[in-house]
Order: sequence, then C-alpha cells, then structure tokens
Amino acid sequence: MVERTLSIVKPDGARKNVIGDVISRFERNGLKVAALKMHHLSRKEAEGFYAVHRHRPFFASLTEFMTSGPVVLMALSGEDAIKKVRELMGATDPAKAAPGTIRKDLADSIEANIVHGSDGPDTAAFEVPYFFSTLEIHG
Ligand code: RTP
Ligand code: MG
Repeated sequence: MVERTLSIVKPDGARKNVIGDVISRFERNGLKVAALKMHHLSRKEAEGFYAVHRHRPFFASLTEFMTSGPVVLMALSGEDAIKKVRELMGATDPAKAAPGTIRKDLADSIEANIVHGSDGPDTAAFEVPYFFSTLEIHG
C-alpha cells in the first residue's frame, strides 16, 4: 500500500552534516520526498510532537535535545513507506541497530540517534499534519 510517513533529521544529524546522507538513503530505497523543510522546534512543539512519551523518565531530556538546534522535517511517500523508513532507521539504540542502518552507521546514543520515523499508520496520520499543511505536501 502506498503510504505517507513523517521523518525528522534530528539536531545531531544537522550538526554532523549528514542531512543529505539520510535523505539519500531514503531516496535510494524508493521513497519519495513529498514535503521538506528546516525548522528549529520550540519547547511546546517538541512536547506536543512527543506527547505519547510525556510520562517517560527521558521526556525532559528528549525535548531538550530536540530543541537544541534546527531539524529537517520531511514527509516521505511510497509503497509501505512507514515500515520501510523504520527499517532504514534501525533500532532506537544504535548499539542494537542492524548493520547498514542509519542509526548504526551515524548515531552516537539512544537519545542522539539522528533520525525519527512515524511508528505506525495512526502515528503518521498525526505527525504529517503536525508539521505540514495539505498545500505543502506534493505526493
Ligand atoms: P523516534 O520516535 O524518534 O522515531 O524513535 P523510536 O520510535 O525509535 O523510539 P521511541 O521509543 O519512540 O523514543 C523516542 C525518542 O526518545 C529518545 N529516547 N531516549 N534515554 C532513553 O532511554 C531514551 N529512550 C528513547 C530517543 O531519541 C528516541 O528516538
Ligand atoms: Mg517513536
């Protein structure tokens, strides 16, 4: 099924100059960039985006990290896009991520893990419009 998903190159990805590397991995694997912008998240925006994690012990640290510099927001479309992006990302903890994944190759820690991807259809349906209006999505 053709799906749309939300991905973010997190502040550590922008700092490490791997924005192009991450996007290129998505493109090389059949995903289409449907929307794209750079943005520095406010505390409120980060808290709203990761609201499902608000009771987790790492929530304050996560929102601090996500607001520590600009990110690249993108909507990706393609066949099984949600699962495909999650596979290309690798496990949350880069130490446990499979070889060849973005997090294994580029990430430093379970928090500074370079990339976000929607984890299911309901999450994608919340996350894509959180950052992009209909008029900003091209595919
Ligand atoms: P994401 O939502 O960013 O795509 O990552 P994910 O699904 O692989 O992981 P999730 O469980 O949703 O956690 C969201 C982000 O919170 C940070 N985190 N820190 N210190 C910790 O134990 C911990 N656990 C998670 C990471 O930045 C993770 O990507
Ligand atoms: Mg997640």
